Formats: sequence, C-alpha cells, structure tokens
Amino acid sequence: MTSPPIASLPPAAGDEPLYRQVYDRFRGAIAQGTLRPGDRIPSARALAKELGVARGTIEMAYSLLHAEGYVQPRGQAGTIVTPGLQAQPPASTPPPQKPPPTDPDTWRQPPTLLPFQMGLPALDAFPRKIWARLGARHLRAMQAADLSYPPADGLPALRTAIAAHLQVARGIHCTPAQVFITSGYRESLNLVIQALLHPGDQVWVEDPGYPPTRELLTHSGLALAPVAVDAEGIVVAQGIAQAPTARAAIVTPAHQSPLSVTLSLTRRQALLDWAERQQRWIVEDDYDGEYRYVSRPLPALKSLDRHGRVLYAGTFSKVMFPGIRLAYLVVPPAQVRRFEDVNRVLGNGIPGLTQALVATFMSEGHFARHIQRMRRLYAERRNATAAGLSKVFGPDMPIHPQPGGMHLLVRMKGHHTDRALAQRMIEHGIYAHALSRWTTAAPCGSGLLMSFTNIESQERAEQLGRRILELM
Ligand SMILES: Cc1ncc(COP(=O)(O)O)c(C=O)c1O
Repeated sequence: MTSPPIASLPPAAGDEPLYRQVYDRFRGAIAQGTLRPGDRIPSARALAKELGVARGTIEMAYSLLHAEGYVQPRGQAGTIVTPGLQAQPPASTPPPQKPPPTDPDTWRQPPTLLPFQMGLPALDAFPRKIWARLGARHLRAMQAADLSYPPADGLPALRTAIAAHLQVARGIHCTPAQVFITSGYRESLNLVIQALLHPGDQVWVEDPGYPPTRELLTHSGLALAPVAVDAEGIVVAQGIAQAPTARAAIVTPAHQSPLSVTLSLTRRQALLDWAERQQRWIVEDDYDGEYRYVSRPLPALKSLDRHGRVLYAGTFSKVMFPGIRLAYLVVPPAQVRRFEDVNRVLGNGIPGLTQALVATFMSEGHFARHIQRMRRLYAERRNATAAGLSKVFGPDMPIHPQPGGMHLLVRMKGHHTDRALAQRMIEHGIYAHALSRWTTAAPCGSGLLMSFTNIESQERAEQLGRRILELM
C-alpha cells in the first residue's frame, strides 16, 4: 500500500472550486483503477503543500470522498481507498482494448515468463540475497554527488572492472577508456552506426541472424548484405564475393545466433584480413560467449584484432539478468575520441547506482563465481532438456546440441512448418521461435529455437515435449 504520486493529481484549471477539482481527480483515479482499494492516499497536509493550496481545501475534498464511500480514514495509518470498492469506469472511458496477440514468430519477449523462452538466463539462480545486500550497502553509502548526472561514457569503477574481466575471461586487452557503458546491445550498435557508418552503407549480417540487428540497421538507413552461415560460422568468402564494398560486418563468433555454431579460426582470420585490407569494421556481438560447456570459453575474436578493426559488444543480460539493462562497447584506441564525441550528443548516461553496484559485484568476485555456477547449471539443464525432448520427439525432430549457447535447435521437416507450430505453442503457453523467421535469403530449413536455461529437469522437458507433440 503506497501513496500515489501526488504530483500527478494537480487541480485542473477551470471555474470549479478547487476542492471539487481535487475530489474529481481522486474519484477519476479510483474509477479508472489507477488508485486501487487499499492504496494509501497522501495526507491532506502533504498534498496541500504539493499543490500549493490551503489544507482546508484538501480536507474538504477528502471529507466528500469519505462521505461518498470512496476513502476511509484510518487514524495513524492515514487514509486509504475503501477496500473492496469496485472500479467503475466513467461513461466516457473507451472500452478496454484487447491486448494485441503475442506473435511468437518474432524475437520479441512475451509479457509473461514461458517455458523455453529465448534470451533469458536462469532467473531462479541469480544470487538475489548477495545482490540485495550489496544494493543496501550502496544505497546507504550514497553521497549528494551520486545524485548528480553520471559520466556519459560510464562510471570509471565499472569500466575498470569490465576491462579487467575481459582480459581474464575473453582474452581482450583494453583500457577502461575504451569501454563505453550502454543500456543494451542496441544502444551499443547504434553508437557504432552513428560514429562509423553512413546511411546507404552496406553491412554484412549473418543469415540466419538476430532480427533486432537487421531491424536497427534497416531503420538507420543501412543496406543489409545477408551472408550465409554454415558449420564454421559466417561464410566470409561469400560476403567478399557478394558484397565486397560493405563497410562493416556484424557477427556472433562465439555461438552464432541462432545456430550456435562457433566461428572457426580460419574464418576469424579471413574476416580480420578482409577488415584490415579494406579498412572495414567488424562488430563482435558476444552476447553469450561465456557459456561454453565442452571446454573453457574460446577467446573473443577481438583478442585477435591487431589492427583496431573490431568493436566488441558485451552485455550483462545473459551473465546477470536482462532487466538490469546494462551493456558495453569496447572500441579500438584510435576511435575512443570519436565515440566520446558521439556519446556526448546521444548518450543519456546509465543510472550510476546500477553501475556502482555491478562494479562491486564484479570486483568482489561474485560475478566470476556466478558465471562459473551458471556454466555448470546450464550444462546440466542443456543435457536434461535435450534428453527429454529427444526422447519424446524421436528421430524426426533431431536435436544436435552445440558446444555452447543458451538454447537448442530442434530441426523439423518441411517448409516453414515451424511457423504454424510456434504459433500454436504460444497459444498454449509454451514458447519457441521459428527458425525460418530468422532468415532473409539463405534457406535454413524449419526448426524450433528453444531455451533450456529455465527448464529444471528432464521430466519437465518430457512433459512439455508431449504437450508440443499434441499441438502438431
Ligand atoms: C544475438 C544477441 N545479441 C545481443 C543480445 C543482447 O541484447 P541486450 O543487451 O539488449 O539484452 C541478445 C539478447 O538476447 C542476443 O540474442
């Protein structure tokens, strides 16, 4: 039970007496459900001060609301909206709109957490107690200066912690000044677009590939050059043959999104050679590079970048949780100035409290421990999910788990059969992305992309698999 934001209830201008305007505002908020039964309303004194009116005006409005049964004074506990009161939309309120149907065939997140939902880490396994303890410590330690604007490129403590982590975990040598803190992958990519590319430039994208990358590039007036992906990752020779003048390539080398294959060393070298020879840019989207289950994670492509052509995009969405909205971009030393300039225009800054908290989470070792635990947990959940689904689906829908990543690809027979099934699944509360929707040109067949990170056991996978079979 919390007080509503009183600043949202200023008296409207008009001929009506002030107390009546305040009364109308409260009655409207209760009728529309903005204020719910049991919610506490502000004290007359606080609201009078907030609105700059006499306290007697507010008291008059409150006694009218009380007399009509909308609110109840509760002594020390303040005044609350009468429990059990039914919201009555005023006659002029338009009928509530049906929520738009969720489209399972896009990459977008459904409104609730569903089994096999892509893009999420194991939400049950995040160390919430440690997080809460660190959070409380940081809140208590906040100084007046912390209430000011955070530095546009990121908090120095976080930039330093990320640079240290990348060196150890991803083989990347960079200084904190090369690390730009952003609110997510899209902001990182947008920074690259604004700093280094021009409308009309061609950009290689993996095909199949992550739809938000394509959407953002297209929206920014760039021309997509889809390049096929095979068992060794993006087919660099095809990119060179078909779009030799492209200005940049956007790749997911660790675990290609969505096929989860790893970019081979030969291809890595070919890509870097192309970028160096032609003075092109490579964006390495390393969204889940930490999650490899058969060996230690492979070093990032960026670790091989001798000529400053690779921009490395990392995110905390998978190694912590996506609600944190925190990511980063590592830019080559020669480009730091340019990115600072662009960020001065575009950057809003990221909440300093979040950044400070994550910096401590990293520097005190919780981050590295959490990743190690998740690597073990995901290896188990991946095996359990693959075993459970394979047992139910049989050889017609094979699964070939890749060495890393956070989802499985269940292959299906037929052309675009994945789309209808994914649609039916979402209607029955089970999530999958249709592989055929992630492609633009290259035929990649039908298949379901299903995350295993939140599937706790083989039994659960089998049970869900049987429900999916019934929908086919
Ligand atoms: C291929 C790919 N890149 C990047 C991201 C990270 O995006 P964000 O930082 O906005 O969570 C994701 C998240 O699902 C992804 O799948």
